[in-house]
Amino acid sequence: MSQKQPNAERMEKIVSLCKRRGFVFQSSEIYGGLNGCWDYGPLGVELKRNLKDYWWRVMVREREDVVGMDGSILMNRAVWKASGHEETFTDPMVDCRTCKARLRADQLPSKDGVPYCSVCGGRDLTEARAFNLMFLTFVGATQDESSKTYLRPETAQAIFVQFKNVLEVSRKKLPFGIAQIGKAFRNEINPRNFTFRSREFEQMELEYFCAPAQGRELLEYWLRERLRFYENIGLPREKLHVHEIPAEERAFYSQGTYDIEFEFPFGIQELEGVAYRTDYDLTQHIKASGKPLDYFDEETKERFVPHVVEPSAGVDRTALALICSAYDEETVTDEKGKSETRIVLRFHPRIAPVKAGIFPLLKNNPQLVGKAREIKALLGPHMMTFYDESGAIGRRYRRQDEIGTPFGITVDFETLGEKGDELKDTVTLRHRDSMQQDRVAIKDLLGLILPRIS
Ligand code: GAP
Repeated sequence: MSQKQPNAERMEKIVSLCKRRGFVFQSSEIYGGLNGCWDYGPLGVELKRNLKDYWWRVMVREREDVVGMDGSILMNRAVWKASGHEETFTDPMVDCRTCKARLRADQLPSKDGVPYCSVCGGRDLTEARAFNLMFLTFVGATQDESSKTYLRPETAQAIFVQFKNVLEVSRKKLPFGIAQIGKAFRNEINPRNFTFRSREFEQMELEYFCAPAQGRELLEYWLRERLRFYENIGLPREKLHVHEIPAEERAFYSQGTYDIEFEFPFGIQELEGVAYRTDYDLTQHIKASGKPLDYFDEETKERFVPHVVEPSAGVDRTALALICSAYDEETVTDEKGKSETRIVLRFHPRIAPVKAGIFPLLKNNPQLVGKAREIKALLGPHMMTFYDESGAIGRRYRRQDEIGTPFGITVDFETLGEKGDELKDTVTLRHRDSMQQDRVAIKDLLGLILPRIS
């Protein structure tokens, strides 16, 4: 089998598991879907929440030099004129004259140097022209030039235009950052690779403001920090790649940009950009609004426009990377010698959507059920748990393995004290990856699980 086949097959299995187990559904599915838009189901939303919470924890709460904000999605159109998005936020597009498909000119396959249509194979393509990726909308009851604006294509601009307000209220000195997590919208010409390139997605962005002399050093610092973040959520370092964007491919104002990439089954692709954007954004908004967005350094008595280093990550892409990286199949053999394939998502426990499955051995024994429900009530305020009383215990374990639940807690007759007092109020704690089982006192469960999931 070629290298490509197993990867395509692996991706198909991942997409199918995402739907079957409730990670991701097609948006508006019962009406045929909407290309480039996805709904996250009960497990997907937990996965994304854990990812965003961990990002917020390490980027904002554990630091003294970063504060958060939550800007509106709709902003004054002047923002998008000043930032350059209205003029230049475009992708090159061509039409296929044969099948009428609209295609990204820079992503066309080619044979003998001649590009062809990726849909029908035709070579009769139009000249490339610029297509603006912002979604146009109107604010208010009239639909004319004066009411036009766009759904934001990035969260960053709200941070730039609120720079002064946030600086004043938070009483920070440079270097300091403003972090934000929120939706962004891009009318991508070719949404593809499942959720990887979507039209509606979420970003986690930090704008880290500094003195001009600190920019280069902080770019390297943030690259290291961000790589550490991905390792801490369970992405193996060897599957992460750093691509330094050469000067001729960078935005003209950038003095250095790294893409952090991940080995997806469909290829090595960008997860995050870490860019040293100089003072470009603030300067644009100073020029266009006429408002001072500069900074006065009390120590040096200098006034200047801060430079900025921006680590900008995608929630959906990272969630997809986590699922792709976690997906595993292995052959397991039971005590009777019967082999079967175990599908297991080996999520890092801090990212796993459900932390513990709770199982009474028998569903028709009120004492077992009562104890299991007590454990659910004990753990519930601290973590996402799943109570499951139906089917053989082995099958219940498998169902949790498939969604990546790191711990299984089984209440059995030993818990009720039927095999002696020393085992009373103990449970079986099963570990997802090793399938090893320990006997643990119910009162010790929280103390054992909490440090591993935080
Ligand atoms: N403020 C800078 C900025 O928006 P970007 O490289 O265009 O930079 C940052 O986007 C991140 O947002 C990307 O690395 C990616 O993770 C995510 N992203 C961008 N476009 C996306 C799309 N169409 N679908 C999913 N995620 C996307």
